[in-house]
Amino acid sequence: MSLNLHDITVTLGRGDSRTTPLRALNADFPAGRLTALVGPSGSGKSTLLAVAGALLRPDTGQVLLDGADLASLTPSARARLRRERIGYVFQSGNLLTGLTAHEQLLAAASIAGRPVRTVRERARQLLADVGLEHRLRHRADTLSGGERQRIAIARALLLEPALLLVDEPTAAVDRPRAAALAALLADTTHRHGCITVVATHDPAVEKAADRVLDLASL
Ligand SMILES: Nc1ncnc2c1ncn2[C@@H]1O[C@H](COP(=O)(O)OP(=O)(O)O)[C@@H](O)[C@H]1O
Ligand SMILES: [Mg+2]
Repeated sequence: MSLNLHDITVTLGRGDSRTTPLRALNADFPAGRLTALVGPSGSGKSTLLAVAGALLRPDTGQVLLDGADLASLTPSARARLRRERIGYVFQSGNLLTGLTAHEQLLAAASIAGRPVRTVRERARQLLADVGLEHRLRHRADTLSGGERQRIAIARALLLEPALLLVDEPTAAVDRPRAAALAALLADTTHRHGCITVVATHDPAVEKAADRVLDLASL
């Protein structure tokens, strides 16, 4: 997959709160590379992830996925693309209430049409990879913010998306864990050849990244 943003402008809000976080932005994201998206708070990192992931339509410009403009797809084709090829890890984690850490991953697999028995062991392994082997049977809503976000990372990796968009994955974890998560994201990107974009202000993520895109300098 290839991702090219061409001449993207996004204006949000109304009246006094109206802002233009992205203005005539051009950027290309190669497959098999982890891009660290940096810039001060409010510089448009989360907005760029939403645009790249077909969650927010830009006011002008094109989002080209494999050369095809997202705006030219039908709504159902866009929905299928989001479901089948794009993995999101939001800052909030966006987990389901009442399910354990392990069940969060199994439910996501099931929704994506993968038989649960084929992913049970891999789900366990991914939760171990993010340091949650001791939390498999804990309900996600009883865990810390950092733990919930790590579940969301494992869940996204389980589905092996072609485009992986991750918002500030290390904001709520300690330093050794941050370095391990950054390494896991980089390894996965190199092994699967996915396009990975990680919004961050964490030097550990910048260090693990193949390239750094600074929104303040565009
Ligand atoms: N729904 C919204 N309505 C109005 N302004 C918004 C909205 N969402 C984000 N913004 C503003 O857009 C700017 C960019 O936000 P964001 O992309 O979240 O930045 P970052 O992730 O880099 O901190 C900020 O000034 C933010 O306040
Ligand atoms: Mg943000």
